[in-house]
Amino acid sequence: MKEKENILLGVNVDHVATIRQARGNNYPDPVQIALIAEKSGADSITIHLREDRRHIQDHDVERMIGVTQTRVNFEMALTEEMIAMACQLKPYDCCLVPENRQELTTEGGLDVFSQMDTLSIATERMKKSGIRVSFFVDPDPKQIESSQLAGADAVEIHTGTYADSLNPEDQKYELNRIKECATHAHKIGLRVNAGHGLHYENTKEIAEINEIQELNIGHSIIAKSLDIGIAEAVKTMKTIMIEARK
Ligand code: PXP
Repeated sequence: MKEKENILLGVNVDHVATIRQARGNNYPDPVQIALIAEKSGADSITIHLREDRRHIQDHDVERMIGVTQTRVNFEMALTEEMIAMACQLKPYDCCLVPENRQELTTEGGLDVFSQMDTLSIATERMKKSGIRVSFFVDPDPKQIESSQLAGADAVEIHTGTYADSLNPEDQKYELNRIKECATHAHKIGLRVNAGHGLHYENTKEIAEINEIQELNIGHSIIAKSLDIGIAEAVKTMKTIMIEARK
């Protein structure tokens, strides 16, 4: 039997910044949390600087690239502002994603096929700056092939539809689409990543796909850290209060 290759984990810390921005103060700090994630096995750190700056801020990007020890995967929309920032700050990876102001989170993959010219030019510019460029795409062979033609080094296959499937048959269908596209993308020479909506119950099936090299996971990990961390957080505050009365 062919031995499975190792799979890497990119931890998305956007939602650490979501909690900080809810109060507009300086904690929790996504950079500090990223350093803990790295010590705990994260192979890269993902941040998405959205046009509306709803979570990650410009100063986070610079600090994150400066102090992390692994790789920063900078998720960004295809805009001049973001391309210029990427070329200046030079994160290891950039993942181009579609962005829509009203959405709660990224809702689908890029339509590479119909934006081939713009994407090719942006990709060439970023590659010249030494950045590895990835496109976030739905598990659709047409988008995978277009990504290769536009010069992408990698694709990140959108797993959101698989993750949101309400019944096992739909989920199996979506899983097969992801498997087929991962195999195809690998065969035509693209690095294959995947992510979106992955959590503690649905990641195993995706991680079993040998062609996928890295998974980018955010919301479920940040949510889990509340489950796991709340006990210690409450105990620490209670200790401060009790000690104050001694
Ligand atoms: N990959 C991409 C391209 C994304 O936009 C996101 C969400 O920011 C993720 C992965 C992580 O998704 P989740 O937070 O659902 O794990």
